[in-house]
Amino acid sequence: NPTYRIAPSILSADFSRLGEEVRNVVAAGADWIHFDVMDNHYVPNLTIGPVVLEAIRPHVSVPIDVHLMVRPVDRIAPDFAKAGANSITFHPEASDHVDRTLSLIRDHGCETGLVFNPATSLDHMDHVMDKIDIILIMSVNPGFGGQSFIGEALNKLRTARRKIDAYRERTGREIKLEVDGGVKVDNIAQIAAAGADTFVAGSAIFGHPDYAKVIGDMRAELAS
Ligand code: DX5
Ligand code: ZN
Repeated sequence: NPTYRIAPSILSADFSRLGEEVRNVVAAGADWIHFDVMDNHYVPNLTIGPVVLEAIRPHVSVPIDVHLMVRPVDRIAPDFAKAGANSITFHPEASDHVDRTLSLIRDHGCETGLVFNPATSLDHMDHVMDKIDIILIMSVNPGFGGQSFIGEALNKLRTARRKIDAYRERTGREIKLEVDGGVKVDNIAQIAAAGADTFVAGSAIFGHPDYAKVIGDMRAELAS
């Protein structure tokens, strides 16, 4: 049985009391905190940066997973490492030199990952698998919380799972398969069956009054 991780996206949290929100969601059973960085350039929205990461870091006892939706990547990525990120993922289209960016993130002590938009080919991972710890499949177009899950992402997850399993057989090294966008209690089992092990959920968790109930219901679905 795989190890599953639930990673609430604070994009849907109440930003006026973010410290309390992250403490509450960790107490409710979150395995990671997912931190969405948007720049009004690579994606049409603007969110939070290293200053906010540094501010919440002392309130978060679990890994913080930074999802960069920014261009360029290299200038800003080290700032997130210094602010306390545990993993940093980015979109291959947003970096001129993907291999170099992966090395840069590793050199700053973080796990690395590539993020695949709905229309982005998985081929981008083929020559850099040794430098990847996480593959993140977007099941919405990046930029906003609260969108509906794009069903085609299930096929993409299956393909990514085959590549990860083949790589593990060859090297013994495990790569995590994360999914982001439109994940809910009622579709998480199907998404897990397609091969995901790490689940980002924003509106499904922060849009509900009882975070522990949603996370518990998700875990029950994953165990079924
Ligand atoms: C979208 C972000 C997601 C978003 C997910 O660009 O990367 O992490 O917060 O939100 P939900 O779970 O509401 O789709
Ligand atoms: Zn995200």
